[in-house]
Amino acid sequence: LKPEHGMHINAEEIRKAISPRTKAIIINSPCNPTGAVTTAEELEEVAKLCQEFDLWVISDEVYHPFVFASNPETEPCGNAIAPSIAAAEGMHERTIIVESLSKTYAMTGWRIGYILAPSQVIEQTSKIAEMMHSSVNSTAQYGGVAALTGPQDHVREMREEYRAKRQLVIDGLANCNALRLIEPQGAFYVFIDVRPTGLSSEEFSKKLLDEEKVAVVPGEAFGTEGSGFVRLSYAGKAEELKEGVARMSKFALAQQALHAA
Ligand SMILES: Cc1ncc(COP(=O)(O)O)c(C=O)c1O
Repeated sequence: LKPEHGMHINAEEIRKAISPRTKAIIINSPCNPTGAVTTAEELEEVAKLCQEFDLWVISDEVYHPFVFASNPETEPCGNAIAPSIAAAEGMHERTIIVESLSKTYAMTGWRIGYILAPSQVIEQTSKIAEMMHSSVNSTAQYGGVAALTGPQDHVREMREEYRAKRQLVIDGLANCNALRLIEPQGAFYVFIDVRPTGLSSEEFSKKLLDEEKVAVVPGEAFGTEGSGFVRLSYAGKAEELKEGVARMSKFALAQQALHAA
């Protein structure tokens, strides 16, 4: 993942990482922590690699309803979801989709997730699941059924709320030249380049927490390519988010000035 590619996956980079021991490629779109949404064209390129090298894909799509490309004015139903690699030619039989009720239904504490995969995979994973945890408790299962079979209007409402909060962050940091953000297209995260402040992402996150009581996650927590970035989650309350973004902007500008001095 490269900032100059908007942290989008790149099939050529993936090709370089494939070895004779490679069995599967793990992808995640919409992405935590970058907010990037892999396009159908990019997924096609990855699909071609999977056919060429006979690989499976494990596709984490837990944020699939939270994409912001659609325009609520022109598309009031807002049915847009992130594209899935399973839809690419020949991929249905080699894709394992990882899903969760945590994001779409805000049921994080209920601990329900599931996979969508060819039957031979389901058969084997069921055996493992049975041995490891037997099953999810029955109360949570009834709740899960209600979530999946009940009205889905709230999913659109949640997305529109996230869209507004996303805009709040983008606007709140627009005039802060000490922070560079990669405009997110999905999920509920913004990945922010903090290098103009002269601080590492670790130092930035710690100081911001100590001095301004604002919590972000250092990019390295997600891998070495996250170095120099921090992840901001905009899933919280709008008022708190506004205040947090204002403090973060002020803090970053002060650090930048110190660094320049
Ligand atoms: C990309 C991604 N996949 C999976 C999960 C796991 O969600 P859960 O364990 O709550 O189902 C998360 C949670 O943050 C996530 O960000």
